[in-house]
Amino acid sequence: MYSDKVMDHFSNPRNVGEIENADGIGMVGNAKCGDIMKMFIKVEKNVITDVKFKTFGCGAAIATSSMSTEMVKGKTIEEAMALTNKAVAEALDGLPTQKIHCSMLAEEAIHAAIEDYKKKQQQGD
Ligand code: FES
Repeated sequence: MYSDKVMDHFSNPRNVGEIENADGIGMVGNAKCGDIMKMFIKVEKNVITDVKFKTFGCGAAIATSSMSTEMVKGKTIEEAMALTNKAVAEALDGLPTQKIHCSMLAEEAIHAAIEDYKKKQQQGD
């Protein structure tokens, strides 16, 4: 049912944890299943230099959080904003249809962390 990549990222999630003094934090949840994902980003000169996550959720949510952190690390804010759940699912060699919504959490959490970063930037001006 799950690809080797999903199993790998689920068993060995990359970038788990929190970033102290993160430049942006995004927390999202899925009301139906109750799963929660929190993303922390560090930004330097418009580039995401570090990203960590904490996910209280299903295996697919953990695998997609892990993959999405790898996909946005080293990317500019604009590139990271363009990340879609579809791209994350494809990078994992696909997800079962009933698990696609889990990958939405990863996209939303990254976007929420970036929005938080932008808001903080504006407040700092
Ligand atoms: Fe809730 Fe996967 S079942 S995120």
